[in-house]
Amino acid sequence: CGIVGYIGHRNAWEIIIKGLKRLEYRGYDSAGVALVNGNMNIYKKTGKVSDLENFADSADLAGSLGMGHTRWATHGEPSDRNAHPHLSRNQKLAIVHNGIIENYASIKEMLIQKGHTFTSDTDTEVLIKLIEQIQLEGETDLRDAVRMALTHVTGAFAIVIASQEEPDLLIAARKGSPMVIGIGEDEYFIASDASPIVEYTKQVYYPEDNVLVYLNRDQMEIRDLTNLELTPYIQELELELEAIEKGGYEHFMLKEIHEQPRSIANCMRGRIYADEARINLGGISEYAVKLAQAKRIIIVSCGTSWHAGLVGEYLIEEYARIPVEVEYASEFRYRNPIISEEDVVIAISQSGETADTMAAIELAKKAGATILGICNVVGSSIPRLSHAGMYTHAGPEIGVASTKAFTAQVTALTLLSLYIARQRGTLPASKIATLLAQLQKTPQLIKECLKNEPLVKQIAYEIKDSTNCLFLGRGINFPVALEGALKLKEISYIHAEGYPAAEMKHGPIALIDEQMPVVVIATKDSSYDKIISNIQEVKARKGKITAIVTEGDTIISEIADYIIEIPLCEEALTPILATIPLQLLSYHIAVMRGCNVDQPRNLAKSVTVE
Ligand code: G6P
Repeated sequence: CGIVGYIGHRNAWEIIIKGLKRLEYRGYDSAGVALVNGNMNIYKKTGKVSDLENFADSADLAGSLGMGHTRWATHGEPSDRNAHPHLSRNQKLAIVHNGIIENYASIKEMLIQKGHTFTSDTDTEVLIKLIEQIQLEGETDLRDAVRMALTHVTGAFAIVIASQEEPDLLIAARKGSPMVIGIGEDEYFIASDASPIVEYTKQVYYPEDNVLVYLNRDQMEIRDLTNLELTPYIQELELELEAIEKGGYEHFMLKEIHEQPRSIANCMRGRIYADEARINLGGISEYAVKLAQAKRIIIVSCGTSWHAGLVGEYLIEEYARIPVEVEYASEFRYRNPIISEEDVVIAISQSGETADTMAAIELAKKAGATILGICNVVGSSIPRLSHAGMYTHAGPEIGVASTKAFTAQVTALTLLSLYIARQRGTLPASKIATLLAQLQKTPQLIKECLKNEPLVKQIAYEIKDSTNCLFLGRGINFPVALEGALKLKEISYIHAEGYPAAEMKHGPIALIDEQMPVVVIATKDSSYDKIISNIQEVKARKGKITAIVTEGDTIISEIADYIIEIPLCEEALTPILATIPLQLLSYHIAVMRGCNVDQPRNLAKSVTVE
């Protein structure tokens, strides 16, 4: 979910609505705003922020204090009544909330016994009524009531609270869920990430866990749950406004696909000294020895980041010769995994906020493992939880379907694998130098891949009406097949599966007929001959083949229905390049099918609930 709050001298509605639109990638089941202007005015609506805007069109939108929310449903279906903000019984206190109150059921029961009734199915309403109850039972000061309420709840949350009776007070608090406070001239902004704030101020404060932030128009006060006053660490925001706008592209996803030459260059910047076969990873250097001596590396992540982890497994095992396991964070955390102090756990996450990945880290940390985070969002929770790490520096990714974050993750993992190989001496320096020099050329090679967009669009047209699609790859490009399938299914709703090409004959081959598009990554690498046989197997069953091939390939062009070329490169770099046409293919298919590419149904960019 996404949260925005404002207290100051401007019209709060405008700031909040604009901010919610920037956060809509975090959830878009429903949206709502509370404005304090003598009254407590609440507007909420199922659907997108624009639906809310239309709904509140002729309403009283005055007020310079307010807060808003865009929701990704956890408790209760998406509906007007479950949309935030939620109110206290006396309708004077309002709350917006991101995260989950785990013990809400027992608190709710206690409140029902005390005469409260509930108008929604949410855990959030329970929290605001708990605060009200604490006030009723004698704690008249709202600040103290909120603080005390938070000592009763377990779970992860980011909340903002406003009261009709306190028109110069906005209270924010967080534990586990992201939040940033923007500091302006006699005004403050609260948001789930910095994107709603960046155009107003660059001074920000990231509240720590279990911290309460009390905002008046002219001052900010920070306290912990014991009421001890703390000093906020105020920092300068590095985000630029242009990075979170579409910049002439029709969708964020398309913009982000086209940004990859730059995002990958940013990921490598300052890290490569190819002539010396040296890699500089400042955030890891302290743990370099630990990493080189690791008995085992466990990669934990979710979604697209998990696919990057699979590519990482190939790279690290191939170059650094350390055994690697790649785990879904959600599975790892619940199955009593065997972890030792000699293990290094690498957590990969675009957002740095994914709840399951965070829980997996906590578990591994308790078992004594060293944690290394590979994240995109600077200052997010996972880097803070990790012992060491590297940022991918892909810049803000707004489209829900991950694109540039994935290729940057793979780039980071390539660097990391060579870094460990260098420490361990498992690869000759000359080979490392060659690979690094090649890696430095990838931005240029991606530009070549992007030039194929018109051709990819034509192929998209041929595939767009299919109901199923199969993606095949082998070796290091098997995860690319998985990622290609995920991209297609999440934005176009065509059912797609990624498979290791040789495994196809153990099941999916039964699905192949002339209706079945099959996309094969068939670049000239160590699996080339084998994959040709797999393509033949598909062809023999009349499947329609689109092959991603190395430029100049004459053999596959004879067999496949369509080919898309990528430049010749080291095998280790093919996942980055082969991903580009697959991103474009999904994008154009989804657009042709009239889907909402940037905000596919039911998905959220950042899953901060388990
Ligand atoms: C969500 C997003 C995916 C992402 C996954 C993991 O499902 O829609 O694009 O890959 O979460 O997120 P993370 O931020 O940890 O990489």
